[in-house]
Amino acid sequence: MTYILGIESSCDETAAAIVKDGSIVISNKIATQIAQHAEFGGVVPELAAREHLKNIDIVVNSALKEANLSLTEISAISVTNGPGLMPALLVGINYAKGLAIAKNLPLIGVNHFFGHIYSAFLDNELHILQDAENFPMLALVVSGGHSSLLLIEKDGTAKVIGATIDDAAGEALDKAAKLLDLGYPGGPIIERLSAQGDKKKYQFPRPLTGAGGKAVSKENRYNFSFSGIKTALLYHAKDLKLANDGENLSETEKLDTVASYQEAVIDVLDKKLFLAVKDFKAKSVVLCGGVACNNILRQRISKSAIKHKVRAYLAEKKYCTDNAAMIAGLGFHYLHKKELSDWQLDAYSRLPQISKVPFI
Ligand code: KG4
Ligand code: ZN
Repeated sequence: MTYILGIESSCDETAAAIVKDGSIVISNKIATQIAQHAEFGGVVPELAAREHLKNIDIVVNSALKEANLSLTEISAISVTNGPGLMPALLVGINYAKGLAIAKNLPLIGVNHFFGHIYSAFLDNELHILQDAENFPMLALVVSGGHSSLLLIEKDGTAKVIGATIDDAAGEALDKAAKLLDLGYPGGPIIERLSAQGDKKKYQFPRPLTGAGGKAVSKENRYNFSFSGIKTALLYHAKDLKLANDGENLSETEKLDTVASYQEAVIDVLDKKLFLAVKDFKAKSVVLCGGVACNNILRQRISKSAIKHKVRAYLAEKKYCTDNAAMIAGLGFHYLHKKELSDWQLDAYSRLPQISKVPFI
């Protein structure tokens, strides 16, 4: 049995988890900082680092306690070392290094983006990853930092075939909520309010999908763009206010607006993913990242997967937002391949070029 301790601090969650044999989540602890950042309408990196420092030891100990394990029973420590906010990442990395040195444990630096993809396989059978009938596999990573499409072949070679050229999907939802003064983070608030609104009431653009007869260049075929929807929202809100003689949007107008806006974002994600499925003859899709918590998006992707006759692996909601279980799970594969990090392990802020995934 291999138990890995995972540590995550790339953004505004301080998290620690223990995962057995790469997929069985024994404990999964998260200290969220949402309340601290809410008043700023977004994550403040220095504040995040300070909060991580306060919480990291508590969270790690609590993960060990819940798993009923001591550090002597742990096989390795894996830690997110990028992409993410540099000051925040450094807290997790330095803590993991200290613990690994003190307890003489292997240290493994893990890519947060791969972590999100791997979250779809937690509490799942790992033979999914060996099943040739699942490949090519297309992973849609939709979070506050990413809207990316990764094409994965059965030998593990992988390529980012599409990404956002401006805002990420989660960012588009967060910024919309800020613009309408609804609170932070926007995704869950917009989902909740949308349930009471009419998603067909207003028509927001579907950038880079060819909607409205707008041609899409070859290089943007699988790319996303969300800033246009956000700008359309800004003008839409101004127009409504003007029509209301300067009064703010009525409750119904607000609900219909967020429902229509969410629909536009989901529609773009669904259209782009399944355009790529068709083009690359993908056999399965993965949906992951914070935005994948959204029930309407989950239903839409599941329905399209049935229509296109592909398997859908949706990360469980509890593993969609940032967590350390996905980091611990991934660590198992590095340990297995003896691909360990050394004490020079450093943080990086941006997603590096990807040529293969570590879990196949
Ligand atoms: O994966 P995550 O926790 O952090 C990043 O790595 O970015 O994703 C956070 C993002 C936020 O933009 C948040 O608004 C969005 O996920 N999100 C949602 C929902 N829950 C979180 N978006 C839509 N619907 C939700 N239910
Ligand atoms: Zn994330």
